[in-house]
Amino acid sequence: MTKAVIPAAGLGTRFLPATKATPKEMLPVVDRPAIQYVVEEAVDAGLDDVLIITGRNKTTLEDHFDRAPVLERTLSTKQDHDRLAAVMQVAELAQVHYTRQGEPRGLGHAVLCADMHVGDEPFAVLLGDDLIDTRNYVLSQMLKVREELGGSVLCLMEVHESQIHLYGCAAVTPIPGLDAVKVTDLVEKPDTESAPSNLAVIGRYVLDPAVFDVLRNTAPGRGDEIQLTDALKTLAGMDPAQGGGVHGVVFKGRRYDTGDKQSYLQATVRLASARADLGPEFRTWLREFVGSKEFAED
Ligand code: G1P
Repeated sequence: MTKAVIPAAGLGTRFLPATKATPKEMLPVVDRPAIQYVVEEAVDAGLDDVLIITGRNKTTLEDHFDRAPVLERTLSTKQDHDRLAAVMQVAELAQVHYTRQGEPRGLGHAVLCADMHVGDEPFAVLLGDDLIDTRNYVLSQMLKVREELGGSVLCLMEVHESQIHLYGCAAVTPIPGLDAVKVTDLVEKPDTESAPSNLAVIGRYVLDPAVFDVLRNTAPGRGDEIQLTDALKTLAGMDPAQGGGVHGVVFKGRRYDTGDKQSYLQATVRLASARADLGPEFRTWLREFVGSKEFAED
């Protein structure tokens, strides 16, 4: 498996006005745009053919993964080797391709836009808003489950019942002897009362190419959008010989929703604290700040 698809066509309304003229995927977390972490994670799992599904106003995203000759020449003349390496590394990270979604018809529709590029191979989908901490990468484990069990693989995370309405929700049964579960049902963003579990689907998927035909036949669901969750529910009920079957890996690490302000701030603080170059000084300041009168005041 070599291909990863990153849907990044959303408008980023939760982060206005920052996202009025800047794609939400380009908001920096410490010193790189959020989407760079997601591409790095795909590459870490061996997926270096990356298709980003974009929309209007996303050209800076394409520029970010491209070469920048004028900037490179300037840094080179100044002998600024570290910054030059950082700039070149982004352009050489992966083979990045782009296609446009055209109209906002939902995550399922965005994934369907990858059909021509992906063809008849299994592939991964990484949502641009979901940032998995570099210390807790889970994609390789999901690829292994696909290798062992076939079908599609979801990344599930236990959330408080009051939060389940923000996510796709999965009903599961254990698979004896394996660190994976079988997904028996899925609901997109259920109410707390009707949720089949507290297991949320988070933004990492390994999908069988059978998902494309299923998506083509999936009617608009919640929010009148074509939902990937609804297509996965169909796949869960299908014969494995036809690409059916859905499994899940239960994720216990750190994950941030960079489209949400609280979670974005947490990502910045935690990732900066963990950085060898910035962490020691930042943690010293943070400790002092948390103990200060300014912090204690409401
Ligand atoms: C999407 C999916 C949802 C999933 C979530 C993970 O929702 O539709 O099933 O749980 O991503 O972040 P969104 O957050 O785009 O509304």
